Amino acid sequence: MITAIILALAVAAEDRGAQVALRECAACHSVGPSGDSLNSDAPTFRSLRLSQNPLSLEKRLTRLPETGHPAMPPRPLSAGDAADLVAYIQTLAPRTPGR
Ligand code: HEC
Repeated sequence: MITAIILALAVAAEDRGAQVALRECAACHSVGPSGDSLNSDAPTFRSLRLSQNPLSLEKRLTRLPETGHPAMPPRPLSAGDAADLVAYIQTLAPRTPGR
């Protein structure tokens, strides 16, 4: 019972993260399991999964609203959005080298 509730919450977080990724990030980043980023300098989200562990990625995303990154304007993300994005990014691509 409790496990079922936790699983349902986890799925919801991933779904919300996918929505945020599509809305806020897909203009530059490839946010799905395949395909190149529209902005060729922007890492694919599945490569983020390989290069950063979930905790540091979440920390980084939580700070995106203030800092943006070099080629990217600051984005309006809540702390919940950052956690949802990380949950979603964890669902992308198996842990294999490459993009
Ligand atoms: C206007 C284009 C653009 C948008 C929109 C954009 N990014 Fe980026 N992003 C880039 C580029 C270009 C890079 C690589 C250069 C750099 O780090 O600035 C990058 C790098 C990154 C990195 C790795 C480097 C770092 O700073 O940690 C992360 C994580 C990231 N983006 C997350 C996101 C998320 C999450 C969103 C949506 C909320 C998003 N980006 C939206 C252009 C964009």
